[in-house]
Amino acid sequence: MPTAAKIILDTDPGGDDSVALLWLLSLVQQGFAELIAVTTAAGNVSAHRTFASASQLLGLLGFAAVPLGRSQGLDTPQADASHIHGADGMGNLAQTLPPPPHSWQTAPTSVDLLVQAIAAHPQEITIVAIAPFTNLAQAEQQHPGILQQAREVVLMAGAVQCPGNVTPTAEFNVWFDPPAAQTVLQSGAQVVVIPLDVTRRLIFTEAMAQAATEAAPTTSLAEFIVSLSRFMRQTALAYRETSGTPGFLIHDAATIAYLFYPELFHFRRVNLQVETLGQWTKGQTVLDDRHGPKATANAWLATEVDTDNFFACLLEDLKTLLALNCDREA
Ligand code: BDR
Ligand code: CA
Repeated sequence: MPTAAKIILDTDPGGDDSVALLWLLSLVQQGFAELIAVTTAAGNVSAHRTFASASQLLGLLGFAAVPLGRSQGLDTPQADASHIHGADGMGNLAQTLPPPPHSWQTAPTSVDLLVQAIAAHPQEITIVAIAPFTNLAQAEQQHPGILQQAREVVLMAGAVQCPGNVTPTAEFNVWFDPPAAQTVLQSGAQVVVIPLDVTRRLIFTEAMAQAATEAAPTTSLAEFIVSLSRFMRQTALAYRETSGTPGFLIHDAATIAYLFYPELFHFRRVNLQVETLGQWTKGQTVLDDRHGPKATANAWLATEVDTDNFFACLLEDLKTLLALNCDREA
């Protein structure tokens, strides 16, 4: 039997981060992946809050023993995305979940967790990064070459040929810390980028939330999925994220789909750079599409996703997660 993939999830929950984490936990419980650690970053909401949210979800599903990293330094003062994800980053549902089992005071830093895990398992760790890339960049700056020792670094990042979702040209994870995104792209690691061009097609509907949870609708997990989806549908409509289609954009879940169902995607080998200086274009991801040899390529870029099969896989794995965890509350 092939060994399970060793994964570190770097996240800033976030409604779509929450779906990505739940999907990953299902795959871990099914034996397809080993969750080495979760590392948290400031982004959608404050660093303290993303830490608490990740901890609450891990605790809910019986993963309190998974190491959880906290962001180094304090919260960044710049704008967050709480208008999309709720003040707590989870659709204002944090108070409906059990309290976080991890303690911020005693938690290791996300950077230390990343560095130690990669160094302990060279070429074995897959980093799934679905937040601003501050932690990854700090790890690379403090230990040059460390990201090259990861097996793969999978990013939800950038808006390449479509408009951004924070500015006309920038996607949130890159815009929040452009130098960090550029550091990761320039690191020489095996980088896979799944941009907004692809993820904005991933609209999780009310019918899907109902279908995923119908077998155990009164469990905390089912109620969380249904309520979070409802909240995220409302803010997506209010901020015109889905062009009027009612649904929850689950950008970050694309990274999990790529790792476990890669046949759902098409990719190109590209050279991708981040605008770190622009007055109007800060955080833009710039694709060098000129003809010529691709010797300077630094990433695989997702260009297409099979949405029907994406959602078929997600629903099956969420149903399995519910089935595997319904006696936890019995
Ligand atoms: C990305 O930005 C965040 O708001 C989401 O969680 C996702 O990681 C989408 O642009
Ligand atoms: Ca995110």
